[in-house]
Amino acid sequence: MRIAIGSDHRGYQIRPRIVEWLREKGHEVIDVGSHSQDPVDYPDIAEAVAAKVSQGEVDRGILLCGTGLGMCIAANKVRGIRAVPCHDDLTADMSRRHNDANVLCLSADLLGERLLFRIMEIWLNTPFEGGRHARRLEKIAAIEDEIAQEICAEKKGDEGSGTTRS
Ligand code: RB5
Repeated sequence: MRIAIGSDHRGYQIRPRIVEWLREKGHEVIDVGSHSQDPVDYPDIAEAVAAKVSQGEVDRGILLCGTGLGMCIAANKVRGIRAVPCHDDLTADMSRRHNDANVLCLSADLLGERLLFRIMEIWLNTPFEGGRHARRLEKIAAIEDEIAQEICAEKKGDEGSGTTRS
């Protein structure tokens, strides 16, 4: 599997071990950083990973921050992203079987190392069940389409009225 991974400063220490583990398992990994311990803004990293998933450059994304929550909120703003914060076996399993999650968001501060790797193992190896769950995901995609169309219409309206933003 092709996987993009990123973290902010909270996940900076554990991330290289995760990259190594993923490569040992035969995955192709793109590591987007961050590349130092200096504080960075998690939305920048979330967007970099989510964009690669959204554009089909990779199959899945993995994000780490202090809680896993900020990364998840940010990644879900990118079209086609179904990012989930997983903290145990069940959320890892269900997020794949029912939600076809394509970005996994992990807490570097709150989860022990063994649990982190266990969650990734489950999440990477559990297939989507499809069926009624696919219908529900189509409804999520339809919400995204509606919002995109509204934004497009607003932009056209702005252009038509000669509104400029500075
Ligand atoms: C950074 O201090 C922290 O806010 C971030 O890692 C994350 O937990 C945000 O949700």
